[in-house]
Amino acid sequence: MEFLQLAKKRYSARKYSSKKVEEEKLLKILEAGRVAPTATNGQPQRLVVVQQEDGLNKLKKGAKIFGAPLAIIVCADHDKTWKRPFDNMDTADIDASIVTDHMMLQATELGLGSVWVCYFDPEVIRAEFNIPENIEPINILVIGYAEGEEASSDRHDQARNPLEETVYYESF
Ligand SMILES: Cc1cc2nc3c(=O)[nH]c(=O)nc-3n(C[C@H](O)[C@H](O)[C@H](O)COP(=O)(O)O)c2cc1C
Repeated sequence: MEFLQLAKKRYSARKYSSKKVEEEKLLKILEAGRVAPTATNGQPQRLVVVQQEDGLNKLKKGAKIFGAPLAIIVCADHDKTWKRPFDNMDTADIDASIVTDHMMLQATELGLGSVWVCYFDPEVIRAEFNIPENIEPINILVIGYAEGEEASSDRHDQARNPLEETVYYESF
């Protein structure tokens, strides 16, 4: 599928069937995250794949996962992230989000639904999944077979701002 077509096909699915995501699809999604670029190629991503019932129940204590059969907690290891020398900006959020986006688009290409979740209690997630101090849970990518109506691929004319509102040429 042509890239822009794929990007427009993706939407946030908030209803899922109980059908499990096949192992080969999961591996392809993880591979898409593996090849993602990260600052200085530090590869700080640490992914917790949750698909067993007890894990999904633990996730539900701190996050809304919309009944999906699979979620990936995308974390970053602060010992591996790059810190910009001018202001000490830490690339953890950026790196983790590029990995998340790669995996989300791969999931779309495989015919799976997904939704990116940041509304979670990080301390609950940290405790439930034994996430060490230096590792920060940043995003949860919820994946599964979406149920209900797909969002239309041409919704972006209304659902997104026109370029004129967001793009500046040469100077702000
Ligand atoms: C950084 C980020 C955080 C998000 N967190 C949540 C969330 O916690 N819960 C949720 O239902 N959707 C969440 N979303 C999904 C957005 O609400 C959604 O992408 C946006 O409204 C555009 O809709 P679309 O994905 O269907 O195109 C998040 C998306 C991003 C990129």
